[in-house]
Amino acid sequence: MRMILIGPPGAGKGTQAQRLVQSFGIPHISSGDMLREAVAAGTLLGRTAAGFMKDGLLVPDEVVIGMVIERIAREDCARGFMLDGFPRTRPQADALDVALTHSGVGLDAVVLIEVPDALILERVTGRRSDPQTGTIYHLRFNPPPPEAEGRLVHRADDTAEACSARLEKYHRETTPVVPFYEGKGLLKRVDGVGSPDEVLLRISAALQTVQTTN
Ligand code: AP5
Ligand code: MG
Repeated sequence: MRMILIGPPGAGKGTQAQRLVQSFGIPHISSGDMLREAVAAGTLLGRTAAGFMKDGLLVPDEVVIGMVIERIAREDCARGFMLDGFPRTRPQADALDVALTHSGVGLDAVVLIEVPDALILERVTGRRSDPQTGTIYHLRFNPPPPEAEGRLVHRADDTAEACSARLEKYHRETTPVVPFYEGKGLLKRVDGVGSPDEVLLRISAALQTVQTTN
């Protein structure tokens, strides 16, 4: 299964990907996680990306495209992958298309998790992640267990200011990717409002009709 999760900040892409990859047995490839790792490691790529990310802006296409295309060319992606947060511009979608065509494979599904803007700020500001397990929590909607509390991380871009910039970028740069995949007959729209379990059921149902290719 080669698939993409698209949605606004805080839509639940990471939350759902963590659950879905367990049943599909494919790697979860989050461009945001890759960039945060590069920032933490202080690599050249991380130093380039850090300023854009902190302000809620998109990291330039030429930086992100190479990073993700290289990642999906690795051996563990031979039987599929779940992309989260990439592509989020039309040039990124075009570059992915070219790379997959070159490898003689295609995408199986693109899932759009739809959540109204009004719900996004609370989801994003209440998020906490466990760096030890990678688990994504929410102080109200998915509270962390007491033993994890001391080590939880609050993302630098999970402020009200950066969140509104991220939402603006999403509407301007990423929503044009949706009709591109709709035109290819790959798009599955899923309502992202409800509990994470309810959303997972909706995604699983939407994927049931998908025929995986090679
Ligand atoms: P990225 O890390 O991709 O951030 P994002 O797209 O803004 O999405 P989030 O990770 O914030 O949200 P999510 O949908 O994963 O939600 P989650 O499951 O955590 O990108 C960060 C930055 O990196 C970008 O701004 C950009 O600078 C750069 N970048 C990354 N990729 C790039 C690219 N391709 N091109 C250019 N730049 C790029 O859930 C959120 C919260 O809600 C959690 O607390 C969770 O517990 C809770 N929650 C989840 N589901 C539910 C539910 N159903 N009900 C209630 N709460 C829920
Ligand atoms: Mg995420």
